[in-house]
Amino acid sequence: MRNFAILGAGWIADLMAKTLAGMRDEVHAYAVASRSFEKAQKFAADHGFEKAYGSYEEMLADPKVDLVYVATPHSLHHTWTIACLNAGKHVLCEKAFAVNEKQAGEMIALAREKGLLLAEAIWTRYQPARRMIDDLIQEGVIGKIEVVSANLDYFITHQERSVNPSLAGGALLDVGVYPLNFASMVMGNRIRRIVAGCVMYETGVDAKDHIFIEYENGCMATLYASMTDQSNRTGCICGTKGYIEVLNINNPQEIRVYRQEGNGSSLVSSIPVPKQITGYEYEVRAALTAIEEGKVECPEMPHEETLEIMRQMDECRRQFGLVLPCE
Ligand SMILES: NC(=O)c1ccc[n+]([C@@H]2O[C@H](COP(=O)([O-])OP(=O)(O)OC[C@H]3O[C@@H](n4cnc5c(N)ncnc54)[C@H](OP(=O)(O)O)[C@@H]3O)[C@@H](O)[C@H]2O)c1
Repeated sequence: MRNFAILGAGWIADLMAKTLAGMRDEVHAYAVASRSFEKAQKFAADHGFEKAYGSYEEMLADPKVDLVYVATPHSLHHTWTIACLNAGKHVLCEKAFAVNEKQAGEMIALAREKGLLLAEAIWTRYQPARRMIDDLIQEGVIGKIEVVSANLDYFITHQERSVNPSLAGGALLDVGVYPLNFASMVMGNRIRRIVAGCVMYETGVDAKDHIFIEYENGCMATLYASMTDQSNRTGCICGTKGYIEVLNINNPQEIRVYRQEGNGSSLVSSIPVPKQITGYEYEVRAALTAIEEGKVECPEMPHEETLEIMRQMDECRRQFGLVLPCE
């Protein structure tokens, strides 16, 4: 069984540890590393991890660690993913994968050179809802798709890492990445143009973003994301015969299908997603499978898709006029 390690014992690390607790027959919750040994010890005790390290370097020197989950702020994904790969570890790196495409390209190039798995932990790519939505689209239930809309807002300005430019905060990298992935999964990436704008936060990062995408086939996506409020987090896929509503695009729980009826549409089915531990188990499973198969990437989120999303976010930030201190 593979030994799983967590680098950075913050909020999402806690949720990942709870996920691993439900996967005891699949993966071993082996080590946690924090900049504080006391914090690592408490985390290990709370979640039943075998080892606690007071520095990331010490954990990476442990030959028993197979797969490292990088759970730091965005500004540090590049540094620590590179360090993990140089230590010979497979990596599952949280979203946003990096600050920009250049960093992402360097991380991916190193993983390929070393023959190690490097996967982006963007959970929605790995979850069953994705295939359920694809199947509905393929069956033609809503006809030909023309428009996609999606939003994801969380009131999270109290989180230091979300507002601090030095930690690569901002709505786009933190939450905007989800509507972009939602549109990409449904529409693909043959993009004619992106038009993006934002409202800035007082710290100098983007607070609320609006993104319009025109595709080469004449379709359109309209997306927004914000870190100053709550929204319904809904995705809507609109076709010539009806529409599909996804509640919520960040961990879908229900998929509703509406079919055209007269001038309007009526609900024809409401499909729940399968029962889950937390929803993060699918990315862990995909990473483990890829490692067993000797792959350097997960088919659910190949490197080229990760790079494509980074390119889209680079273009949005170019239009925002936002350059982060670490680039
Ligand atoms: N997939 C999802 O649903 C989801 C949800 C939330 C967040 N995320 C992603 O997960 C990552 C971490 O987010 P989070 O909410 O867990 O953040 P967080 O609670 O702030 O935790 C980040 C951890 O990174 C470590 N760290 C290392 N250097 C740091 C520095 N200079 N400043 C602050 N922390 C530093 C700290 O761990 P130690 O003190 O233990 O070293 C800290 O606890 C981000 O990439 C975020 O986008 C994903």
